[in-house]
Order: sequence, then C-alpha cells, then structure tokens
Amino acid sequence: MALRNIVEKGDNILEKHCRPVTAFNEKLHILLDDMQETLEKSGGVGLAAPQVGVLRRAVLVVETNVPEGEDEQVIELVNPELIYEDGSQEGPEGCLSLPGVYGWVERPMYVKVRAQDRYGDWFELEAEDLTARAICHELDHLEGIMFDELADHMMSDEELDEYYGQNVSQSPQAKRKR
Ligand code: CO
Repeated sequence: MALRNIVEKGDNILEKHCRPVTAFNEKLHILLDDMQETLEKSGGVGLAAPQVGVLRRAVLVVETNVPEGEDEQVIELVNPELIYEDGSQEGPEGCLSLPGVYGWVERPMYVKVRAQDRYGDWFELEAEDLTARAICHELDHLEGIMFDELADHMMSDEELDEYYGQNVSQSPQAKRKR
C-alpha cells in the first residue's frame, strides 16, 4: 500500500464526471488499498477516487455509527448508485480537498445505495446520519460536484465554535472531513 496525494480544489480533475469501473483487477485493488491508507492517515470519513486523481467511480466511506468499543468500518463502494433517500439533516460539512473550510449543507438523513465490491459483486447498503452525509458527499465527487457548491453558506470560525459547543457529543465525528 502507498499513500496517494490528495488533489485540492482548483484542480479541474475535481470538476469532472467519473467513468464506471469495468475491470475488477489488481489495479483496482491497489487503488482501493492506497485510498484506504490515504484516508486512514487523513483522519477523514470518506474519500473518492477523483480526489487521488483517478476519474473512476469508486469511493470509500467510514461507517462511524458503530457500537462503542467496536472498530469503525471502511466500506468500499464501486459504481455506487443512490436508490433511495429519506428525511433530511442540516449541518457542517468539510472535505479533504478543501482543507480548513466548512459549509452548512442539507443532506438526506437516510440513504440506500447499490454498489459493487472490489470483486464486482453487487450489494446494497443502508446508512443514516453522518454516514448518509458522507455517502452523498462522496457520490457527488463522482459527478464533479464539491460540497461548497451545495452549501447554504460557508461557516465562519465563530459559527463552527458555536455549533460544536452546542453539539459536543457529535463534534469529533461531525468535524471529520470527506
Ligand atoms: Co470531499
């Protein structure tokens, strides 16, 4: 495994539509392994292939809603499709490709996605709350969309402090980037 460079906003690779993954081979597995290592080191909760310069439909999302004492699970979604969404949530969102910046973004509270695993097998995944937010954020990356384009407004340091001051139980997870 190797760390990959995270592309930052301003590079037009982040504005492009990604092509489907068609070869479930060693090259894909190396990409996913490298993305996993890169995500782990960044401390984020999600990473999309275009963020490491690869215009293919593959993302990682960390399932953070796990019982206390259990490890968070990194989920690989290849060729993901949103098949159902419900409810809504509003909150701060950040991105590894836009360091130090947070915006107020509305997302569904619950999503269901269909995706392939690294071997090409299809599966369905349900997620809610911050994991649903992370999935929507990563799927947007595959369409060349960044969260700041969807944000109601970008958040000032004061606003962030105020939000996390009132949502202390959420803050360590919510402030992690995607
Ligand atoms: Co992002």
